[in-house]
Amino acid sequence: MTNHRHARRPIAILAVSGVVAAIVIGTAQPSGAASTLGSAAAARGRVFAAALTTAHLNEAQYTNTFDTEYRGLTPENEMKWDATERSRNVFSFGPADTLVSHAQARGMAIRGHTLVWHSQLAPWVSRITAGSDLLAAMRNHINQVMAHFRGKIQYWDVVNEAFDGANRRNSVFQQRIGNTYIEEAFRAARAADPAAKLCYNDFSTDGVNAKSTAIFNMVQDFKRRGVPIDCVGFQSHLIVNQVPGDYQANLQRFANLGVDVNITEMDIRMPTPASAANLQAQANNYRTVVAACLAVARCTSITTWGVTDKFSWVPSTFPGQGAALLFDNNYARKAAYTSTLSALGG
Ligand code: XIL
Repeated sequence: MTNHRHARRPIAILAVSGVVAAIVIGTAQPSGAASTLGSAAAARGRVFAAALTTAHLNEAQYTNTFDTEYRGLTPENEMKWDATERSRNVFSFGPADTLVSHAQARGMAIRGHTLVWHSQLAPWVSRITAGSDLLAAMRNHINQVMAHFRGKIQYWDVVNEAFDGANRRNSVFQQRIGNTYIEEAFRAARAADPAAKLCYNDFSTDGVNAKSTAIFNMVQDFKRRGVPIDCVGFQSHLIVNQVPGDYQANLQRFANLGVDVNITEMDIRMPTPASAANLQAQANNYRTVVAACLAVARCTSITTWGVTDKFSWVPSTFPGQGAALLFDNNYARKAAYTSTLSALGG
């Protein structure tokens, strides 16, 4: 039986020292190791993703680097409340649709980010005074946005950053609706897109601490009472040389509750200009986080909060700090890229 799948390969016949050798050209198969972040992670059953924004899609190196290296997309700003429902019950999805199409055309997973958050909230929402009215507005927002993207989103960050340390953040939702607003959001989300996995997402929850424990207790309570929740996102906006020693243990304790865990917004910042020592330490830190995810069966994705240091949110939010991602200002691969790829088995 012929191996017809190989029949298209061009054959070159070379005479070398009187010996005729047949060499198959142009068929080099990878010898085993995947050569991009996305393919290496896929070989381990994980999605390696990045936050992307329409603001830079016209820069070829930005889109090419993203398209080549990543297999998942989170819109950096385009699905937030102030972008999707700037006036009450008037929805606009243009920039978000652009990103969704970009991802879909390339077979990428999409993370919806985010439905209920105190920040980048349309101003009219904060002016609502009655809890019943705000609850109705929140439910409508969840319904309309999730319905628009129904069937396209693998994971949704339903509620973002609702804790302030061990306590509930004093957001307009907390003030007007009260403690039940989070579970109300998850119930509305389940009804709006039953196929999407529904996540709670927060920062400074990357080790076992008072804040992550408060969230752990909430997720445990939701599970016991049947409030729909499928996943917890750990933003992992980290500082060089400060990866919590119990990072993996923290992921695992959440996974043990019966939820997926996702690393959703990873970056590792340092003072700029970056020193060689810090860039090497960052590479080690990225390796530690990737290894932790791979060691937890329910850790299904790793997302970096951007592609290149050039456009990272870090320098404008934390003045004097930056260099937090895997590609530098010129899209060159950093030591952290190499350590991440190798930790993924690439
Ligand atoms: C950031 C974006 O990267 C910036 O472009 C924007 O100006 C502010 O928001 N936690 C989150 C993200 O959940 O949505 C934030 O993204 C970073 C912190």
